[in-house]
Amino acid sequence: MARAPADPAAIAAAREAAVAAALESLAGLAPSSVLSARLRRAAPLVAACDPAAADVADPAWAALLDAVTVQETRLYRHPSQADRAGALLPPILRRAREAGRGFRILSAGCATGEEAFTLAAQAMHAEASASGLEVLGLDLCRPALASAAQGVIAPGLGDPLGLVPAELRPWLADAEGSPRLHPALHRSLEFRRANLLEGLGATGLDVIFCRNVLIYLTDTARARVVDSLIAALRPGGLLALGPSDRPPAGLESLGEAIWRKPDA
Ligand SMILES: C[S@@+](CC[C@H](N)C(=O)[O-])C[C@H]1O[C@@H](n2cnc3c(N)ncnc32)[C@H](O)[C@@H]1O
Repeated sequence: MARAPADPAAIAAAREAAVAAALESLAGLAPSSVLSARLRRAAPLVAACDPAAADVADPAWAALLDAVTVQETRLYRHPSQADRAGALLPPILRRAREAGRGFRILSAGCATGEEAFTLAAQAMHAEASASGLEVLGLDLCRPALASAAQGVIAPGLGDPLGLVPAELRPWLADAEGSPRLHPALHRSLEFRRANLLEGLGATGLDVIFCRNVLIYLTDTARARVVDSLIAALRPGGLLALGPSDRPPAGLESLGEAIWRKPDA
């Protein structure tokens, strides 16, 4: 008996579903209307991905991850949390100095880098020096990382400096008040491509920010990422999550979705 011709729309829908399932196990991305819309928009990229061989290092999968992840960010995002972080940084910076070591900050899911830029500016403001300061940004999205590594402050919506307090502007703006990273601040930054689901490749961190990232992940992936963030923090270190993220177990709340890992 002759088979009915395959329906191209049904084939595309089946491929999209298989690719969405592979993205979930690969990067922890949860099914959502945003993800479905992005997958539909990226149909040629979806068609190029083999669901049976998902791999973040594979060029077809890397291109798809670039297209479906959400990079919304800005300087001094969530100002009340940023204010709280600014108040909490000086004592732990001082502790690191007294111990004769550098100070390490991670922005996990850094997108185009504005969270890392803000944290670096806050640490520079607290210490008036970049000596020993290391700020690492990790993300999967290659174009976002390229922009971050160049130190470009993304134009975004409205004035990129609009939320930035006056005392941080010398690190984030030029003499005319246009957005620009201070060269010393730029030198303290490093950006790397990494899948948070596969570990961070960094330990001994004093401060970790992972905001507006876990909301895109499944419950299982969130738990895995939060466990690796806590493991990478020094005792006494700070973890900042997004405003709607679940509280991490075993950490002390300092308010504004900032948590402290107990001293060893
Ligand atoms: C909305 S942005 C958040 C940027 C910044 N943290 C902020 O709050 O402004 C979310 C970022 O998480 C990244 N991301 C999502 N899943 C990831 C994963 N499994 N590994 C690494 N980065 C991931 C996305 O590529 C995106 O750049």
